[in-house]
Amino acid sequence: MSRLLIKNIKTLVQVREASVLKVSGSQMKELPSIDNAWMAVDNGLIADFGPMEDFPGIEDWKGLEVIDCEGKLILPSYADSHTHIVYAGNREVEFIDRINGLSYEEIFARGGGILNSAKKLADATEDELFEQTMVRLKEVIGQGTGSIEIKSGYGLSVESELKMLRVIKRIKDLNLVPVKATFLGAHALPVEYKNNKQGYIDLIINDMLPKIAAEKLADYIDVFCEQNYFTYEETKQILEAGKKHGLVPKVHAEQLSHFGGIQAGVECGAISVDHLEFCDDADIELLKKSDTMATVLPGAAFFLGLPLPPARKMIDAGLPIAFASDFNPGSSPSGNMNFMMSLGCVQYKLTPEEVINACTINSAYAMQLSHEVGSITIGKKANFFITKPISSYGFIPYSFGSNLIEVVYLNGVKQ
Ligand code: NIG
Ligand code: FE
Repeated sequence: MSRLLIKNIKTLVQVREASVLKVSGSQMKELPSIDNAWMAVDNGLIADFGPMEDFPGIEDWKGLEVIDCEGKLILPSYADSHTHIVYAGNREVEFIDRINGLSYEEIFARGGGILNSAKKLADATEDELFEQTMVRLKEVIGQGTGSIEIKSGYGLSVESELKMLRVIKRIKDLNLVPVKATFLGAHALPVEYKNNKQGYIDLIINDMLPKIAAEKLADYIDVFCEQNYFTYEETKQILEAGKKHGLVPKVHAEQLSHFGGIQAGVECGAISVDHLEFCDDADIELLKKSDTMATVLPGAAFFLGLPLPPARKMIDAGLPIAFASDFNPGSSPSGNMNFMMSLGCVQYKLTPEEVINACTINSAYAMQLSHEVGSITIGKKANFFITKPISSYGFIPYSFGSNLIEVVYLNGVKQ
């Protein structure tokens, strides 16, 4: 394992004590950083760091690589806690349909949307899916993502859900980045069960879940709680069934309407509730009494032209907010967390400090990884990126659409 000593870092961003697992409310405005800093990496982990005045003697470091970071910043890699990057093909045709006036709901009602992706996925082999997914994973790693959650949910049959989850397992086993797997069998009602919703829920609970648990294929269970998808009661039924198999709940909540997903999630002890476009004041109160991370997916709201989740109001009410990309073929065909941060600043009126916290420590919390990634902390994984020479960390969300990442390190290894 290589040993690195990085010196003259213009700013070492998001430096935290190991005890900080998330930041809430006004704490989100703070982004502890060291100007003119050094950082040491050993055995794939962050070993030490400090200001250049205290630059260490390097005599006892054998095989040490010294990197000069003059003018450049270091940030911990982004944690992307909500993606659907295992999919076949794309949905470019529906993109054009929406440009021409159809809504996301109308496209789904005529058999498109998630059902379109399910058809494509059924026809793809596990190897093909793996290859397509790796292209996306490598793309987002280059854009700064260093840990990721990946969902199933385009299978909607026992065989295809298992196929998706096995692809995720293969990616996890590469040990390239930390990966969390989410079983999202309740993403939509498959055509075969059009008139038998409880039959599909029973399939999820009695057939899919035991198989997934036996193969240890998932960490989380997720439900799309929405009109024409799954109700509050069904969401709770499915989440509770997942819990019995050791899976931790997550919810696709209040994306297209106010439908009770946040309440279902909080009541089931969800680690996160995601989307939140139609989150209301009562939901904010529920979230304040919980340990559930409120996760905003700016790419989906942007791409579908949805009302914006009340992220500003939620932070001002004292809540923590995480950001994730929702990378998927239908509602957010991008996993670029730099762009999510730009959207956060421009559309949601969050400060650069708030969006960086949302994309690192808080999104790591939303996949139970904030003890391992999400900040520059001694003992955490050396997953970070070095920027091009830039003026400050605020320049990243400011320069929307630019690629300001010069080099990415994962486990202390240059990619
Ligand atoms: O998070 N909202 C539900 N699921 C995905 C979209 C899935 C799709 O359209 O393929 C989402 O936005
Ligand atoms: Fe999603």
